[in-house]
Amino acid sequence: ENKRDFEGKKFLITAGPTYENIDPVRFIGNHSSGKMGFDLAREAAKRGAEVILISGPSSQRVDDKNIRIYRVSSAQEMFDEVFKHYENTDVAIMSAAVADYTPKVKATEKIKKNENELVIELVKNKDILRTMGEHKTHQFLVGFALETQNEEENAKMKLKKKNLDMIVLNSLRDEGAGFANDTNKIKIFTPTEEQTFSLKSKEEVAEDILNFIQAKL
Ligand code: PMT
Repeated sequence: ENKRDFEGKKFLITAGPTYENIDPVRFIGNHSSGKMGFDLAREAAKRGAEVILISGPSSQRVDDKNIRIYRVSSAQEMFDEVFKHYENTDVAIMSAAVADYTPKVKATEKIKKNENELVIELVKNKDILRTMGEHKTHQFLVGFALETQNEEENAKMKLKKKNLDMIVLNSLRDEGAGFANDTNKIKIFTPTEEQTFSLKSKEEVAEDILNFIQAKL
């Protein structure tokens, strides 16, 4: 099947983890591989969309003339890159696992192991998705929620608080879902609906997500 149902649509997709530097050799990161976001970008491009893909550090590669990739490292860099493109976006899908906190001070030299205890003070990062929700004009805004408890309640809260049109929940309590796996198990919420999907490859999950979005546009 070769449907081009996103022809002429501009997508903004984020993928991967962020790295928050502690010093020149160390960082705080997470287990996101970038696969979910890259599969969304590939599927959208295959269906005719023009895709801006903004990725944190990931070994995923893509070679598609409809995908322009921007590689960033920290949450702040991702924030800055996202807002260069947001205005000119029809559909935004934020599948990156963005750090909520970053070291207050990034040491300029490697921290030496002199002390028995070391305290790293963290400060909150700006929430990219929430800021997008606050500045939403015409965009269809899709968030992800990665949860380990009270999954549905938390996902619905994020949908509302961040002014989203849709949220994709994946739970680390479901086997084969979330980070690094080539599979995922999701539940989609809009302000008025919800739909549960079975465990599938991330390629198929990307297709389900884009089918759902297509029906809403
Ligand atoms: O990359 P993979 O290995 O394939 O794994 C995929 C995934 C598990 C990373 C992906 O499916 C996923 O769930 N991504 C979102 C992970 C996450 O950070 O969820 P959250 O519930 O903490 O954040 C909620 C939403 O707010 C997300 O859309 C996130 O991108 C966004 N956010 C969070 C913090 C922040 N400072 N800015 C944000 O925009």
